[in-house]
Amino acid sequence: MKGSRLDFFVISLTTFLLLVAIRVCSGGELRKNFYENSCSQAEQIVQTITWKRVATNATLPAKLLRMHFHDCFVRGCDASVLLNSTANNTAEKDAIPNLSLAGFDVIDEIKNQLEKTCPGKVSCADILALAARDSVSFQFNKPMWEVLTGRRDGRISSATEALANIPSPIFNFTTLIQSFASKNLTLHDLVVLSGAHTIGVGHCNLFSNRLYNFTGKGDSDPSLNSTYASFLRTKCKTLSDNTTTVEMDPNSSLTFDNNYFSNLKLQKGLFQSDAALLTNKGASNIVDEMIIAGKFFTEFGQSMKRMGAIGILVGNDGEIRKNCGVVN
Ligand code: HEM
Ligand SMILES: *[C@@H]1O[C@H](CO)[C@@H](O)[C@H](O)[C@H]1NC(C)=O
Ligand SMILES: *[C@@H]1O[C@H](CO)[C@@H](O)[C@H](O)[C@H]1NC(C)=O
Ligand SMILES: *[C@@H]1O[C@H](CO)[C@@H](O)[C@H](O)[C@H]1NC(C)=O
Ligand SMILES: *[C@@H]1O[C@H](CO)[C@@H](O)[C@H](O)[C@H]1NC(C)=O
Ligand SMILES: *[C@@H]1O[C@H](CO)[C@@H](O)[C@H](O)[C@H]1NC(C)=O
Ligand SMILES: *[C@@H]1O[C@H](CO)[C@@H](O)[C@H](O)[C@H]1NC(C)=O
Ligand SMILES: *[C@@H]1O[C@H](CO)[C@@H](O)[C@H](O)[C@H]1NC(C)=O
Ligand SMILES: *[C@@H]1O[C@H](CO)[C@@H](O)[C@H](O)[C@H]1NC(C)=O
Ligand SMILES: *[C@@H]1O[C@H](CO)[C@@H](O)[C@H](O)[C@H]1NC(C)=O
Ligand SMILES: *[C@@H]1O[C@H](CO)[C@@H](O)[C@H](O)[C@H]1NC(C)=O
Repeated sequence: MKGSRLDFFVISLTTFLLLVAIRVCSGGELRKNFYENSCSQAEQIVQTITWKRVATNATLPAKLLRMHFHDCFVRGCDASVLLNSTANNTAEKDAIPNLSLAGFDVIDEIKNQLEKTCPGKVSCADILALAARDSVSFQFNKPMWEVLTGRRDGRISSATEALANIPSPIFNFTTLIQSFASKNLTLHDLVVLSGAHTIGVGHCNLFSNRLYNFTGKGDSDPSLNSTYASFLRTKCKTLSDNTTTVEMDPNSSLTFDNNYFSNLKLQKGLFQSDAALLTNKGASNIVDEMIIAGKFFTEFGQSMKRMGAIGILVGNDGEIRKNCGVVN
């Protein structure tokens, strides 16, 4: 009697451990160095090609970082942003907020190399997450945050979903928080990740209402620094200019640093969505915190890890795309 009860206990425990093992092996979630056995050079290849490309084009980190953000906010980080439109389907990359999405060729170059080295192993979603990190890290000559891997690629990409999920530059604090909360990201993540605007550019038409016609009376946005507004008016001459771009972090738009937050405090956030971070006490406290030396980089890495885990496909879900622009 006692013996069979012990047997039962041992068998139950073994079954439980086996199930746990299966779950871990099938990749229930992301992990460190997922390709260690299946493609040991994968992360090195991504870094080498990304650094080679960034060395000759300093605008790429902003492109790849934003592309990863857009990927994760629409259907999770599943490389849906990389899919081309087809006869039947307008893909994410052809939605209006695509404005300035670029760097697809870098992902394609990395994917081509990886398909030669270890065919069918490394997902486009992981390549994008790694390349975004590596591109930003080039100026520091070391990885700036940890990227867990094991994402799989989705088969669906929809322009309509991109429009519905990518936050707009005219969002206020309430709608920004709602957008991030819908991705399980916090107030802290919202403020910290907005610091990505320390690199890159924005098109005039996305903020020139703040310069010329804020309330429809030919006025400017009172929450925009008037010196900065005058400077911006010299760059953006009309409300409808959708071709000129300006640096989001004036005079430092190629350097990943925490200037975004000190600029914000001087009322030099370019978009209404940037300025909105000062309209909430909790958010503006976090802005102050990010100005303290060293804080931003640590926090950014942690929030990127959370962003990089949104709605991921793992295990046998999705696929490993052969070509990042088309489903298999
Ligand atoms: C908080 C909500 C956000 C809004 C409303 C927003 C909006 C925008 C807009 C309108 C642009 C300019 C696009 C253009 O004119 O071409 C832009 C650029 C950019 N965004 Fe955001 N963004 C947000 C969050 C993020 C996050 C979370 C990241 C990354 C972690 C990010 C990274 C970037 C980068 C790097 C650029 C520069 C792109 C370039 O230089 O081409 N943004 N964003
Ligand atoms: C487009 O849709 C039609 C009808 O639903 C289908 O037969 C065709 O294969 C689709 N083409 C592509 C490229 O998906
Ligand atoms: C962005 O979308 C427009 C249509 O709204 C399209 O003509 C353009 O090719 C797209 N740009 C990119 C980089 O996909
Ligand atoms: C750098 O990359 C961006 C984005 O792909 C591209 O638009 C630009 O033409 C490139 N610049 C140079 C000098 O190659
Ligand atoms: C924020 O924007 C939403 C949607 O446009 C609007 O309904 C809401 O009243 C705005 N909130 C504030 C505090 O302005
Ligand atoms: C957010 O978390 C909830 C509860 O854990 C989960 O059901 C949902 O899928 C998550 N959403 C995203 C976009 O990850
Ligand atoms: C400013 O906005 C008002 C109200 O929307 C509009 O009637 C007017 O034409 C706009 N002015 C310009 C220069 O676009
Ligand atoms: C820019 O504006 C022009 C004129 O209004 C329009 O034809 C064009 O499609 C716009 N381009 C983009 C990328 O929105
Ligand atoms: C950028 O630097 C130049 C030269 O130092 C200076 O004249 C200009 O005012 C600066 N721009 C901004 C927006 O701070
Ligand atoms: C506006 O910017 C200038 C520097 O360009 C700065 O001296 C001033 O304090 C800023 N104004 C506000 C209200 O922050
Ligand atoms: C996707 O479209 C781009 C141009 O928009 C093209 O250069 C690329 O070759 C296409 N990729 C595939 C796999 O068709």
